Amino acid sequence: MAHSWQKTDWRSKPRVQMPTYRDMDALNAVEDRLAKYPPLVFAGEARRLTRALGEVANGKAFLLQGGDCAESFAEFGADQIRDTFKVMLQMAVALTFGGKIPVVKIGRMAGQFAKPRSADTETVGGVELPSYRGDIINGFDFDADSRIPDPDRMLRAYTQAAASLNLLRAFSQGGFADIKRVHSWTLESTKGKPGYERYHALANGIAESLDFIEAAGISGKTVNSMKRVDFYTSHEALLLEYEESLCRMDSLTGDWVAGSGHMIWIGDRTRQPDGAHVEFARGVINPIGLKCGPTLDADELITLIDKLNPENTPGRLTLIARFGADKVAEHLPALIRAVEREGRSVVWSCDPMHGNTIKSESGYKTRPFDRVLAEVQQFFQVHAAEGSYAGGVHLEMTGSDVTECTGGLRAVTDEDLSSRYHTACDPRLNAAQSLELAFLVAEELQQRGEAERKAG
Ligand code: PEP
Ligand code: CO
Repeated sequence: MAHSWQKTDWRSKPRVQMPTYRDMDALNAVEDRLAKYPPLVFAGEARRLTRALGEVANGKAFLLQGGDCAESFAEFGADQIRDTFKVMLQMAVALTFGGKIPVVKIGRMAGQFAKPRSADTETVGGVELPSYRGDIINGFDFDADSRIPDPDRMLRAYTQAAASLNLLRAFSQGGFADIKRVHSWTLESTKGKPGYERYHALANGIAESLDFIEAAGISGKTVNSMKRVDFYTSHEALLLEYEESLCRMDSLTGDWVAGSGHMIWIGDRTRQPDGAHVEFARGVINPIGLKCGPTLDADELITLIDKLNPENTPGRLTLIARFGADKVAEHLPALIRAVEREGRSVVWSCDPMHGNTIKSESGYKTRPFDRVLAEVQQFFQVHAAEGSYAGGVHLEMTGSDVTECTGGLRAVTDEDLSSRYHTACDPRLNAAQSLELAFLVAEELQQRGEAERKAG
């Protein structure tokens, strides 16, 4: 890794999408405090995730990354975390079964607080105020005071991230994720919905197989990995004062680690090759995500890969394609061809959310389920045509029974959106929609597996 790199180097680069704090003394005091706090994640964990993603890059595993668009202080609670974790476990079971490959599980959780915005200000009823930029920066309420960036919010975000991660570690390691409990991960809100029945049938099959292999002497008692899962955290590394304050040097190797989460990604609006965000991310050993939208051309992508993964380490870099159902077939092939031509090892993941946001007739920001699905399906088709590996999905989703995206087999309609629209930012798939999507992706994986076996 770049050993001459310093965690402060980003400060001399052009920055976009970051707040201008008014009180520099208050900001510096917060940075000093955070710099003394324990990091949330550790070098060994970041390396382990890189290896797991390396398996994805090599076509031997699949990535499931999902969670809130924006975590918020108001919606924070053990139940929300548990339910999103449960749905992700269910989705991973469906994907593992369909694809017959391991699924790497990463939450957009325990740190996903800062948001890039398309406009600097927001106007409501003739009043113009600075945009909301996520709870780590300013307040959601539409009043002038709330919208002032407040550095103390970083301390609260850190505390919430630490508590969330503590719970996720307990859930993933402490028996909750034991494959024997495969039935217990279902959620009330999905009852009667299509994915629920399908999941139960699958869980019954798994329970039977477990009985069989237990009779043959293999169980959670003998094989530890059946009792726990590896679950990782991720967020967009947008607020670089926060990221720098939690960045630590691994004393054994001298490597720099972003201590704020296992994987960090660079957003579609902050991926300027000579900008502050790329400069920060290039220096840490954590796996890095890079959002790839319609304005990214193939040459620029290679420039970015040169910076972010100069040693071509499998698992280091995940390219998260987010074009929109109507654009993915046009834009993705050129990027794949450039990556193949240059022999770069990457994970290709599909974010079918951010290119498919529309304003509904009733005025809500929403995403139609069929467009989300259409982008995922085209992502698989393009990779099949190019001979590259569709490695994962990146979703905005929640275990809560919200009504934010329209459609799904038990359709959420435009009229329903107002009933449980809770997101602090973009619309998320609810538990039933997430599960339904996972089964449809599992079908893609199954078909791909069958095609590969036929081809020998
Ligand atoms: C996001 O993932 O919430 C996001 C803002 O994505 P993008 O940078 O791809 O627009
Ligand atoms: Co979003």
